[in-house]
Amino acid sequence: MTSFVEQLDIHSTFADSTKNYRVSGQTILKDICTQREVPKRMFLSKMTILILSRCLVMGKGSGYGKVILFGEHFVVHGVPGIVSATDATTDAEVKKIDKGIIIKDERKGSRGYAEEKKLQQIESIERMLKTMGMPQSTAMSIWLGGNLPGFSGLGASAASSVAIARAIAEECGLKFSDQRINEIAYEAEKAYAGNPSGIDNTAATFGGLLWFKKNVTGGPDTFEKINIRAPVEIIIGSTGIVANTKAMVEGVAERKKQNSQKYDRLFKQAENLALAGRKALKNFNFKKVGELMNENHHLLQEIGVSCKELDHLVDVAREQGAWGAKLTGGGGGGCMTALTPEKELQEKVAAAIEKEGFQVLRTKIGVQKL
Ligand code: PMV
Repeated sequence: MTSFVEQLDIHSTFADSTKNYRVSGQTILKDICTQREVPKRMFLSKMTILILSRCLVMGKGSGYGKVILFGEHFVVHGVPGIVSATDATTDAEVKKIDKGIIIKDERKGSRGYAEEKKLQQIESIERMLKTMGMPQSTAMSIWLGGNLPGFSGLGASAASSVAIARAIAEECGLKFSDQRINEIAYEAEKAYAGNPSGIDNTAATFGGLLWFKKNVTGGPDTFEKINIRAPVEIIIGSTGIVANTKAMVEGVAERKKQNSQKYDRLFKQAENLALAGRKALKNFNFKKVGELMNENHHLLQEIGVSCKELDHLVDVAREQGAWGAKLTGGGGGGCMTALTPEKELQEKVAAAIEKEGFQVLRTKIGVQKL
C-alpha cells in the first residue's frame, strides 16, 4: 500500500515543481511519475486523484490476544511461562492528521475498560513513538477495533500496542521486522504493566502457543513455539472487573520482598509447573495439562492475585466438567480460563458461566499464526 508519507512527499515534489515550471504566465508542470511536462489541467486532475486517494489510504495493523496457561506474574521475575495467542485480534488503523492524537476506540468489552485505560494508552503511544524514533509531536488519528474484547487479562493492551505499532509503521512507510514490532510493543507495555515480562507482546506479535522466559538481566528473552497435534477448545470467562495490571504486578513484587522464603518456594513450584505443562502439552496429554492448570490457580491464590469473582468462575467451570481452570493474566478481576476439549464441553461450560451473567469468549489454544 502507498503510505501517506510517501504521498506527502509526492505532494511536496508537486509544490517544487510548481515553482520550477512556471514559464511566462503559462503554467507547464512536470509529471512526477513520468517526469514529462504536462499542461496544468491534466496535472491538476492527477493531483485531485492523489488527494482523494490520500483521504482513503491509511496504515493498518493487527495484534493477537493471549491467554496465559502457566506462569503469569511469576514470568515477570524470570520464571518460564506458557502462553497461547487467541485467534481473536485487535485491529488498528492509523492516519496522519494535522494536529494532536485522536483515538477512536471501538473495541467491545468490559464497561469502562477504554476510559480506565485512557491515560495508560496515551503514555503507551508516546513510548511507541519514542522507540520508533519519531517526534512526540507526530499527529495522527487512531482507530481501534477487531474481535478481541477489551477484557483485562486477555492481553488487550499488548494486542493494541502491536496493532498500533504496525499501523503507524505502515502509515509512515517504515519497514519493521516482527522482532522490532515486538520490542516497540514491549516499551509500550510498560505504560500498562510497569515492569512487564514481555510475554503478552511476544504472543501478540508472533501468535501461536509459546514457551516464554524473560531475560531478567536485560538481554533478549527466550521463546519458542510449542507444537501440538491439533488446536484444543478453551473458554475465557470475564469477571467484568477492569483490573490494573501495574498495581497487581507491583503488589506481587512487594509481597515477594516481604516474604522471600515463602515466595521462593512458590516461585520454584511455578517453575516446575511450567516445565511439567510444556511436557504435557507436547505429549498431547490434556488431562495432565488441566490438573497442572488447577495447581497453577492455587499458586496464584497464594500470591494474592485472585479474587472471589475469579474463584467463583473457576469453581463453576470445574463443576461443569472443565479439565482444569485458573485465572489468566494479571488477576484482581479480569479473566479466568478453563480447558474444555471438544465443542460440546466448551459450550456446556460457557453456557453455565453466561447463565451467571458473565461474558465468555470461546476460543482454542494452539492455533498457528493466521
Ligand atoms: O492482565 P494482562 O493481560 O495484562 O496480563 C498480565 C500478565 C502478567 O504476568 C501479570 C504481567 C506480565 O507482564 O507478564
